[in-house]
Amino acid sequence: MNSRSNLLSRSRYTEETLEAAIKQGTQQYVILGAGLDTFAFRRSDILVNLQVFEIDHPNTQNFKTQRIKELGWAVPTQLNFIPMDFTQESLAAALKKSSYNPQVKSFFSWLGVTMYLTREEVFATLRTIATIAPTGSRIVFDYFDIDIFDAQKTDTQIQEELAQVQAAGEPMKTGFDPSMLASDLANLGLHLHENLNQAEIQRRYLQGRKYAHIAQAVVK
Ligand SMILES: C[S@@+](CC[C@H](N)C(=O)[O-])C[C@H]1O[C@@H](n2cnc3c(N)ncnc32)[C@H](O)[C@@H]1O
Repeated sequence: MNSRSNLLSRSRYTEETLEAAIKQGTQQYVILGAGLDTFAFRRSDILVNLQVFEIDHPNTQNFKTQRIKELGWAVPTQLNFIPMDFTQESLAAALKKSSYNPQVKSFFSWLGVTMYLTREEVFATLRTIATIAPTGSRIVFDYFDIDIFDAQKTDTQIQEELAQVQAAGEPMKTGFDPSMLASDLANLGLHLHENLNQAEIQRRYLQGRKYAHIAQAVVK
């Protein structure tokens, strides 16, 4: 599920979409649950007019900033680190503590995170984005088809993988019905622009994926 191909295809889709958004005036990139994403270190070519905000769980972010120090990497001046636990805090409050400007068209990515949160926690953050970012701002997030949690509809390999992450203390909890996503997002103030299913992701980028979806929504 969390294969390298999955990581690569979702990041590539996101960065291609971000580049198109920058051409249309986006000047802030908020990476939710950034993990060890090295975007700000890899893409100095597009940092010129872009402020980057990495939001992540305090434990993960501490680990990352520590590793950056150990490696002696220079942190670009455009990169801002904001610690936040999605289950405890509001994205709006976290961004308020930073130089994030709610008047500036922004792009958000949320990759490899929604499945670890409850449906309510995912919706709370998406609703916040719709209120703190101007019209035309975008979010790309990936999600699992809700069928992944139905033992009748999945194969034993998937069930074993879900059991493994649960045993490791990081249970995957949430999936969405792709056919309902447009109305779910509309209720939050977002327009579903694109909702790539397995076949489309495979056609565009890779072969052999299961269950993963990528969605792109626009603030109305
Ligand atoms: C699988 S990693 C994905 C990292 C990166 N976005 C990527 O695409 O490779 C999941 C990320 O979600 C973050 N995360 C999980 N639960 C979180 C929470 N409750 N609050 C904040 N971050 C959380 C973790 O700290 C981690 O950085």
